[in-house]
Parts: sequence; structure tokens; C-alpha cells
Amino acid sequence: MVKNDINDILAKPPMDHDITVEAWIRTKRESKGVTFLELNDGSTIKNLQVIIDENLPGYNAITKEMTTGSSVVITGKCIESPGQGQAVELRAESITLLGPASVDEYVLQKKRHSFEFLREVAHLRPRTNSFGAVARVRSALSFAIHRFFNERGFIYVHTPIITGSDCEGAGEMFQVTTLPLEQVPVRDGQVDFSQDFFGKKASLTVSGQLEGETYACALKKIYTFGPTFRAENSNTSRHLAEFWMIEPEMAFCDIHGNMDVAEEFLKYIFRYVLDNCPDDMDFFDSRISKGVVDNLRHIITSTFMRISYTEAVNRLIESKANFEFPVAWGIDLQSEHEKYLTENIFKQPVIITDYPKEIKAFYMKVNDDNKTVRAMDILVPRLGEIVGGSEREADYEKLKKRIVECGLNPDDYWWYLDLRRFGTVPHSGFGLGFERLIQFITGMQNIRDVIPFPRAVNTLEF
Ligand code: 4AD
Ligand code: MG
Repeated sequence: MVKNDINDILAKPPMDHDITVEAWIRTKRESKGVTFLELNDGSTIKNLQVIIDENLPGYNAITKEMTTGSSVVITGKCIESPGQGQAVELRAESITLLGPASVDEYVLQKKRHSFEFLREVAHLRPRTNSFGAVARVRSALSFAIHRFFNERGFIYVHTPIITGSDCEGAGEMFQVTTLPLEQVPVRDGQVDFSQDFFGKKASLTVSGQLEGETYACALKKIYTFGPTFRAENSNTSRHLAEFWMIEPEMAFCDIHGNMDVAEEFLKYIFRYVLDNCPDDMDFFDSRISKGVVDNLRHIITSTFMRISYTEAVNRLIESKANFEFPVAWGIDLQSEHEKYLTENIFKQPVIITDYPKEIKAFYMKVNDDNKTVRAMDILVPRLGEIVGGSEREADYEKLKKRIVECGLNPDDYWWYLDLRRFGTVPHSGFGLGFERLIQFITGMQNIRDVIPFPRAVNTLEF
């Protein structure tokens, strides 16, 4: 007996053939002489309707056991459905209950639960329409990302998760240690990391960029795609303590080439998800955020706006909008400013370049004005920043000077500086926050609902 995924059955119904489906019961409806089940097996957002006729041996006992959430194996004939809402249905001939789910205890009885509630049952939420759709879209996006880079000859590099250097220089790192925290060894009034596992201080990476650069300076075009960690104490709908980042890095590439790749990349994955996840995207469009599909279609055909930080600040000041954080040249753009630029002023994605060097990381190439750096952030409506990138400082002396200016120790970055001593090249890259990308594509409001098990301040149940 062939076992069939519901997705395959609905896509190409094997009419009048016997099929076997393994799935979970979403709902049961009893009617005169028949019982209807809606089955879902996660292969698609769509359910398969099953009809159980009262003439099936053991009808009463079987249908009593068929509760929401139970797992079943059902064999029967795939027939044209006389009812509305589905083209085919399964007429049950044999039913096996694998695992019951108690009506009194299984929490997913109701059709709709709040996302807040579902976060507390993160082990069960993939069984809902929303989280099933997010999981399928997340998986499709991962594939599209690898495909994009693979088609363009990029090498996928696995950068380390445990690291000895702070990429963003922002000190928002989780420490990794085997030192006894009740009694840490101390020498000269300082924690003695020489006794720690690695013989020095170690952390979880905030970005694979620095290690990525070493491979780009050998293999020309590389990308990383992995988990990153930030101990930012920001309890917002766009921050996680553990999130995934895609970071391409390209040698012989300046800031303009970098922006071109980033724009092409985003459009490619938007197109991919529209072409390959139509049912899930319809669901997001009708149930989660009206207009997400049209919005993506529009972006695919538009050209991203590119303006400098200075221009952006001027536009914000001219707007006379009432911001919580007042705007002046030199400030770090807040989420309210980013949203205002993309939602109110430009009404499309915007790439902002040439930020003041004081608010950006040490590795960015300083412009001739000695005030701004060759940074580029991509902002989108609803979220603000989803991409952060730059051209890197390729000059040894200038980079060393910036490291010192930023209060960092050049000795800690000796290998990174070496890339500028031997065969240095202009090079650039960017980081795309994977969860922010999924938020943007699906219209899901909270970043905690686009990753299977969210980690954030005071959140680690699962
Ligand atoms: O702008 P960021 O900090 O850039 C970097 O880490 C660079 N090293 C990237 C590079 O040039 N290779 O982070 C990049 C992106 C942000 O634009 C945002 O989308 C996402 O990562 N991000 C977060 N996403 C979720 N939660 C957080 N706490 C995030 N912090 C950054
Ligand atoms: Mg950034």
C-alpha cells in the first residue's frame, strides 16, 4: 500500500484509487449517518476531508475515539467530493487510531488561539495553521537562499559558533565558560580566564563576518548561514537572543556591488516564495496581514531607493513628524525613524548609505570626508532594518587606527589585520536577519512566532 502525503493527494488526486493517509485529526463533525473528519499531516496547509459511513463496522466506537489532535492511519477510496470546499475526499474503509488526544486536556481544541498563548505551548503550536505555514515557508526560504548563492558560485562556509572575538564590537555577547561560577578563579583582581576551557575568554558569536572575510579573501565569494547570539536586553517584536543570519562576503567588490547583490538577493527570495508556497502565502495574505502578497509582487518589480544617511536625516527633519527620539545628524536611527522613511516618505524598501562612523562598527571603510563610513542598511516597511552591511576597511594602517579608536585591542584582531597585510582587496558583505525576513514575507507581527523555539530575555521554556 502506497502511503500518501495529503499535499500530493490534493495536487494530483488518485481518483477512485485506494489510498492510505497518516495524519492528525483537526476537527470532527457528526451528521446524520456519517461523520466527517478534517485531517492534516503538515505537508500542506490544506486538510483532507474523510467521510466515515455509519455502515463501517464498529462505527460508533471508532467515531467516538476520533477526537481533535488524535493521530490516525486511514485507508479508503479517493473520490470526488459532492460537498463544497474540497474537490476530493477520502471514503474511509479502515481506520487505526495510533494516539488518542483527550478532549479535556488537549489545549488545541478551539479553532483560534492568541499567538501569546501559543508561545506557551511551543511544543504543540506547529500543529496550528499559522505555525505550520511559518515552518514550511521558513524551510522553503532556507532552500531558496542556498540556491541563490549556489547559482552564483558562492561557497558556503561554516563559521564557528564559539568565538574569541567580538565582531560588532558592541559587547553584547553571551560568554561560554566551564569555570565554576560559584567560585571563579581570580588573578590580580580579574577573572583568570587562563584557567577556562579555551585558556582565554570565549563567547557565542554575534556574526560570522570576520571569519567569513578570511574565506572571501581566498575563495572570492562566500556566504554563511547559521545561528548568531546577542545578549541585547531589547524586549521587542523584532529582537531575539538567538537568531539566524545570512552573511555573504565578496572580494573585489565595493559598496555598490554589495547593494546590487543584496537587492537582487531579496527579490529572488520573494519571487521564490510566491512561486513555491502559494497556499501558505494565500493564508498569510487572508488571515495574518492583508496585502503581503501584493506588496512582495510590487517590490520584485521596483528598484530600491538608495539615499545617504545625511539625506535621510534631512528628509526626517523636513517631515516635521513628531518623533519620540528627536532627529539630528549623528544620531543612530531608531526604529520609528526607519519605519517613517520606508512607510511614509518612500513607501518602499530603502537602502541608506554612508552613516556617521561613530555609530557603526570598526571594520567599515571610512569615506574621504573622514566622518562617514561605507555602510549600507536596507530598511523595509513595518520592520525597519532587515539588512546591515558595508564595504570593509582594506587598508592595514587605517583599520588598525579604527580598532584603537573604537576602544578595542588590535592584538585581539591580529589575524583579521593580517588579511590587510597579505594580498588585501576591496571587499564587502552584508547580513540579513533570517527571522526579520520571514516576518516581512509572512506579515507575522512578532519575531518570536517565526522561529520554532524563541530565545529572548527571560524566555527559555523549551
Ligand atoms: O546590522 P547587524 O548587526 O550586522 C552584522 O552583524 C554584520 N556583521 C553583517 C555583515 O556585514 N556581514 O545585523 C545584521 C542583521 C540586521 O539587519 C537584522 O536583520 C538582524 O541581523 N538582527 C537581528 N535579528 C533578530 N534579533 C536580533 N537581536 C538581531 N540583531 C540583528
Ligand atoms: Mg545593523
